[in-house]
Amino acid sequence: MAMPKKIHVNDSPKPFPFHEGEELQLLGFLERKGVEMHSHCREGICGTCRVNLLHGEVHYPNGRPLGYIRDGEILPCCCQPTTDIKIETY
Ligand code: FES
Repeated sequence: MAMPKKIHVNDSPKPFPFHEGEELQLLGFLERKGVEMHSHCREGICGTCRVNLLHGEVHYPNGRPLGYIRDGEILPCCCQPTTDIKIETY
């Protein structure tokens, strides 16, 4: 099995391991880890869940989302990490 991706959130000292295949998308994963997240549509449309991606890369398995994001932002409700990442939720 592939090595889990390390998900660094804000200033948390310890990354969360994201196992590909077990996890559908980043938003639910972070919520289960107790990270306070905002969400609404959970389908990449409303933009409510957007966070800053400080390092690393993600992909959108269902294609680029419709929700508006600026450079450096991602929509965790519909993406998965393809590398270790660092995100900022505030
Ligand atoms: S919750 Fe609507 S775009 Fe993510």
